[in-house]
This record gives sequence, C-alpha cells and structure tokens, in this order.
Amino acid sequence: MDRLDIAVVPGDGVGSEVMAEGLKALHTVARVHGGLEFHLRQFPWGCEHYLKTGRMMDEDGLAALADHQAILLGAVGAPGVVPDHVSLWGLLLPIRKTFDQYVNLRPIKLLQGVPSRLVGKGPEDIDFVVVRENTEGEYSGVGGRVHVGTPYEVAVQSNIFTRVGTERIMRYAFDLARARDKSKSVVSVTKSNACNYSMVFWDEVFREVARDYPDIETHQVHVDAASMYLITKPEWFDVIVATNLFGDILTDEGAAIQGSIGLAAGANLNPERKYPSMFEPIHGSAPDIAGKGIANPIAMIWSVAMMLDFVGYPELGKLVMRAIECTLGDHKAPRPIDLGGTASTSQVGDAVCERLSALQ
Ligand code: IPM
Ligand code: MG
Repeated sequence: MDRLDIAVVPGDGVGSEVMAEGLKALHTVARVHGGLEFHLRQFPWGCEHYLKTGRMMDEDGLAALADHQAILLGAVGAPGVVPDHVSLWGLLLPIRKTFDQYVNLRPIKLLQGVPSRLVGKGPEDIDFVVVRENTEGEYSGVGGRVHVGTPYEVAVQSNIFTRVGTERIMRYAFDLARARDKSKSVVSVTKSNACNYSMVFWDEVFREVARDYPDIETHQVHVDAASMYLITKPEWFDVIVATNLFGDILTDEGAAIQGSIGLAAGANLNPERKYPSMFEPIHGSAPDIAGKGIANPIAMIWSVAMMLDFVGYPELGKLVMRAIECTLGDHKAPRPIDLGGTASTSQVGDAVCERLSALQ
C-alpha cells in the first residue's frame, strides 16, 4: 500500500463545504486505485479559531504542516475578522511563503458543457495556464505607516523583486510551456512603462531566461493590455507568467472567462519538494453564500486533481479531471447554481464521484 500524508485545512466560509466534496473525491480515488492510502489530518484553523484563541493557526502550526506531503486548503477569511489582512497574514500567506511555494499555478480552461461568457469563444479558445509568482513582489509585506490619522500620514508598501525569485518563476513558466502541447509560448505580464525599476528588471530577467529557451515564442505585454486580450483573444495565450499581484488579478478574470470562479483551481507549488505544496480553489470563503450548501465544489475537486498530479499520481489526476468533465458535459447531471443549475454542493460532489467510480 502506498501512503500519502495530507494536511487538510478547510478554513472559513464555504471552505469546509467544498472541502467535504474534495475529500469525498479523494476517498473515491483511493477506492478506485486500490493500492493507495490517504492519511488525512484535519486542522481546525481559520477565523473561528482566531476568535477563540487570538491566532489563525497554532503557534507550531507550520511545523505541524511540514510533516505532510501536501496540504489541501479550502478558504480563508470571514467578515468577523477585520481587516482581512489579519486572517490572510495569519494563515494563507505564511504557508505560501514559509514553504517557499513560489509557483502559483492556475489553469484557465473552459470545459465542455460550461457556457462561455465570451461571445464566439468556446473550449478550443480558452485553455491557458497562469504562472503567478507567489512569494514576493507586491505581497512581500514590506512597508509601514507613520503619522497615522494625521493629515501627514504616509503609507508605504514596497514591492520586492529579487533576481532569484524572478528568475525561478520565469524558468518554471518556460519549462511548463515546453511540456504543454499547445503553441509553446510564454507571455510575460509587465508594466515597465510605468514601474521603471521593478518591471524593467522583470523584463530584463525574462529576456535573459528566454535565451535558454529558443524554441519557445515570447511576448511581453503590459498588464492593462493583457487584461483586455484575455477577453478579446484568449486563444492567443498558452502560458502566462506574472507577478504576485498581477497574477492575482488576472486569474479572477480568467476564472470569469472559464465560466465561473466556482470552477477555478489552483496549486501553490514548491517545485523542489523541499516543503509541502498546497492546493486550493481560488474562490475564497464567499461569506455571501456560506452555510447554504450551494457553493460549487468543482474548483476544490479540480485542486485535488492537481495535487494528485503533483504528488506522483498524474493518471489519478487525469481520472478526476475526466470525471469533472463528464459531469459538466452531461446536461442531465446535477448542475451547480453558479452555472445556472439547482444542485447543492454535495449533489455535485456525488455526481463527480459517481463518474469517478464508473470511469475506473
Ligand atoms: C488568491 C486570493 C489571495 C491572494 C488573498 C485572499 C490574499 O485572492 O489566492 O487569489 O491575493 O493571493
Ligand atoms: Mg485572488
């Protein structure tokens, strides 16, 4: 029996609702495979934990997570803990940074059966991956405020771009473009016309790294134009490499063009595998629909597929993806509410699991 130790952090809002379905899919995978055991350890961290204990996670939380091969995370953030940065800097961001999960991989793919929001664009046009830098840039956490509350107040938030950090994310994007069988191109998202230090540096490193990949087509596009092209010519994109903040913004746009944020999956990877990587849907805790049992669990289940792929079971990852595709492609299958259906979170999860069992 192969054994995988997975840390499970359902977190806040719809996090626990979608996590239940992600774990259902994982148990189904174990049954289908027959020779694989998942040892799950649940961590009750998040905003409720914060309100009880004053901490988003236990003091030795990161050490506890480090013992696992991967982390599944639902969502972080709740209206009872404000401002939001308290919860995010208490749980999600320290995991990404401490475990050097410098690649935030976000596939944007319009699956068959999902209505396109872009007139004239179908599944063959919307299929790209965003490689978002995940540990530095605009999220470096460097800055400060002085003269708070006075007319002379100053707030500084510094963007940090290191050569190591910039180069490794570029290399990851180029390697990924090589491995994909689409157009083999990398679009670097920049803003070097205005950000004359950080983004000029970003562009230079991109060009340097590109020299090692003469087989890959390259483009440098300013973020404002890139956000327009995602809508006007999504078919042009294959691999996108972007800074932390630009990648954050563009992947919500990507989620919209892939049909719904309820479908958008993500992986926070430490490619060297020195630390566990973390897999999470990109939608967040969605307090407006939390507790109603109507969140779409497919982004979470897709994130589980990405985990299986990364931890050495790509055939199981593909199987989960096929089950998702079969569910969405079958107009008689339960349809989540964000895609115009009436099915509950667990009905959609069950439908995916049924197909998973049938596909084996
Ligand atoms: C995401 C989220 C987070 C981010 C927030 C919750 C800090 O928007 O994963 O995209 O900006 O990285
Ligand atoms: Mg985001």
